[in-house]
Amino acid sequence: MNARILIVCSEAVPLVKTGGLADVVTSLARTLRRRGIDATLMMPGYPAALEQARNLEEAGLLPDLPGGPGRLLHGAMPDCGTPVLLLGTPGFERRIANPYVDERGEEFADNAQCFGALAHAAVAVCRGKTALAPPHVVHANDWHAGLIPALLRAHRVVDVGSLFTIHNLAFQGNFPVDCAPGLGIPQHMLGPDGMEFWGRLSFLKAGIRYADRISTVSDTYASEILTPRFGHGLDGLLNERRRALLAIRNGVDTDTWNPADDALIVRNFTLSDPRGKSSCKRELQTLFGLPPDPFAPILAVGSRITHQKMADVALESLPVVLRRYARAQLIVLGRGERRYEQGFSGLMECFPERVAVHIGYDEKRAHALHAGADMLLHGSRFEPFGLTPLYSMRYGTIPIASRVGGIVDTVADARLSGAPPDGASGILFDGEEPDAMTAAVSRAFALYENPSEWHPIQCNAMSADFSWSQPVEKYIAAYREIAASDVRELFVAQPEMPDADIPEYKTA
Ligand code: ADP
Ligand code: GLC
Repeated sequence: MNARILIVCSEAVPLVKTGGLADVVTSLARTLRRRGIDATLMMPGYPAALEQARNLEEAGLLPDLPGGPGRLLHGAMPDCGTPVLLLGTPGFERRIANPYVDERGEEFADNAQCFGALAHAAVAVCRGKTALAPPHVVHANDWHAGLIPALLRAHRVVDVGSLFTIHNLAFQGNFPVDCAPGLGIPQHMLGPDGMEFWGRLSFLKAGIRYADRISTVSDTYASEILTPRFGHGLDGLLNERRRALLAIRNGVDTDTWNPADDALIVRNFTLSDPRGKSSCKRELQTLFGLPPDPFAPILAVGSRITHQKMADVALESLPVVLRRYARAQLIVLGRGERRYEQGFSGLMECFPERVAVHIGYDEKRAHALHAGADMLLHGSRFEPFGLTPLYSMRYGTIPIASRVGGIVDTVADARLSGAPPDGASGILFDGEEPDAMTAAVSRAFALYENPSEWHPIQCNAMSADFSWSQPVEKYIAAYREIAASDVRELFVAQPEMPDADIPEYKTA
């Protein structure tokens, strides 16, 4: 028998993705399977997920979920074959463009019922109420799965351990308290010692309060969230649960983000043979309709265009940068808050030959951006981990990023003056002032002008190792600690095996 883990989340590539969570859960599940752990993903049956998952079969009917009945389907992820459970409910089936908000950008009114249903369905799997073998540990991610640890308690399930991972403390899943009866949450869990949060009912707080262990995705963020500045009102509870809090950094999916064999870029390249990067640069300029000037430094922005990602600060800093560096080009790929999207489009109108903006979500363009740009501007007011700068680094595109969260742990700062220290792989800045961002971008342009300083930074960036091999072992150790004592010996990381050798999952 292998150890069984159920990873519950709201999105997973390639089925549905709005941010880094989707990348992380898919590559974690796949890496666990390569190390001999029987990991299954579980997520909502959005139309896009139902369309893309393979070999879907019914695994159980769940008549009494919040919001109505649900149907659990078992199948496999399209590329890697990782087992996946999809919960079909009428609510999830209506989520066509985005899992959380409607076409006007408003939160769906039934988010509490829908994600409450996901948690109940996961707990039904844990209790052996479906055709599936129950997991030994359930790994719940972000507020969408936050009710799971609470419901396991409520149902007195003691033989399934629970790990709750915080990918972003800012998204909390807070709903009116009168939702509670419909969500099957017992009265005694509704106080401030339970999941009540400023007069609301918080799915995120439920996860933090009731999970056996809590983890977050970088060492620095794990300490930041214990402070009022980064704790989003939950620093008190997190301090209380400090002994249960772990930091396990994310890994990068090095198969998907690999300049040596990325099928989404025009020409592959490596550290020892970087010639393809200039073809990727030309392709990027063409794709975004900019003049194909090989000597123009290209600054890229590729992320959610939100307050978290300092879109407002970038919109003040970038006009200064563009006026100061007459040859520089700016390419923006992103989607987010409408006012910032409009701000970037306005910038394109002011600098039509030098700025290109694509508002939208586009995987191919994201690869083209990382491969073809020279630098990536990635401001963050807080950053639990920050996959995007690491993706760009793999393609020799140097991040200019905020010194917060996971960025501190992954990007080695070239500093704002003097010779860049050995090992430097990016440029960091502090705070939220446009001037600080402008100074960091200016420093990047100055280093770029001088290849003897720029190339070592590119080499360091391209050779940095943020693969999954170390974090996956930490996850396995965490699962072992919380699994029932009679199955703990199953939680051992095997030597990595090729995908073809991973055993089939037995569903019943
Ligand atoms: P977050 O999860 O906070 O958005 P991360 O940097 O960890 O930040 O992960 C973001 C992920 O979403 C990356 O895989 C990034 O490439 C992707 N992404 C963000 N915006 C877009 C977009 N407009 N088009 C394609 N991919 C995007
Ligand atoms: C969140 C964070 C980001 C992190 C990602 C995956 O969305 O904002 O920093 O990399 O989750 O853990």
